Amino acid sequence: MPRHLLSAGDLNAETATLVLDTAERLEQAMSGREVRKLPTLRGRTVVNLFYEDSTRTRISFELAAKRLSADVINFSAKGSSVSKGESLKDTALTLQAMGADAVVCRHSASGAPQRLSAWVSGRVVNAGDGTHEHPTQALLDAFTLRRHLGELAGRKIVVVGDVLHSRVARSNVLLLSTLGAQVELVAPPTLLPVGVGSWPASVSYDLDASLSGADAVMMLRVQRERMSGAFFPTAREYTRSYGLDVRRRAMLPDHGVVMHPGPMNRGMEITPAVADGDGSVIVEQVANGVTVRMAVLYLLLSGEMETNA
Ligand code: CP
Repeated sequence: MPRHLLSAGDLNAETATLVLDTAERLEQAMSGREVRKLPTLRGRTVVNLFYEDSTRTRISFELAAKRLSADVINFSAKGSSVSKGESLKDTALTLQAMGADAVVCRHSASGAPQRLSAWVSGRVVNAGDGTHEHPTQALLDAFTLRRHLGELAGRKIVVVGDVLHSRVARSNVLLLSTLGAQVELVAPPTLLPVGVGSWPASVSYDLDASLSGADAVMMLRVQRERMSGAFFPTAREYTRSYGLDVRRRAMLPDHGVVMHPGPMNRGMEITPAVADGDGSVIVEQVANGVTVRMAVLYLLLSGEMETNA
């Protein structure tokens, strides 16, 4: 494992597979236990340092650390000395002084976890930085896909929507291509980043055509809060061209998987009937997030499997 998990690109096929296999083993080790906890990280301190809102990621990292018996500190920028102007560096040094073994960082600025890793001696996990990366989301997505599709080599995964603002898309393209999957990005030209041609993925503007032969479709949230201009004429037009409805869902093969990292704009990028319907693994993605984040914390902080302890 790398010292920190800052980017899905930090993982090669071997280390990515190690994380996914470790998650499977941790889940097995916990199943059947009356108390769903392992003593592996007893005495270690994990700090959740969240400068940006989160439901799934923050809660699942907290639960993951607690299931490994670590002490957990939840730091939210709101209500902290950040409101008095304290910098990320001074906040990091404060956490360092309190003995944080790992810092899980979400920040609106791309690259903030990377900067943090230079200031603290503990391990740093990127929990989403600006429009850059969200590596643990990509790992939980790969874990979920692997459970449904088996090995990912040669599988076609279609990623649809607001690629421009999506750290989930970037991390998934890196990780899924590392694992041998064929990734296709589908979006209007205005929602694709400059330089997307150099990503290890194909690009399409035609969702109907891309769904043919796809093993999974991953819908992305339209991130209106990051949009300063008009990226598409109207919400209705976006939905007509790039929304996943029952008609499009039927274009997937029987084994086809429907994914969304959440939070969803129901009725915009995905209809409720598809989000809650057959083949949707959206709730399962959330559950798998806990297991995969346990594996990440375990591998970064312990490095050994002691699940029988
Ligand atoms: N998928 C995801 O990162 O969700 P949250 O913003 O709720 O953490």
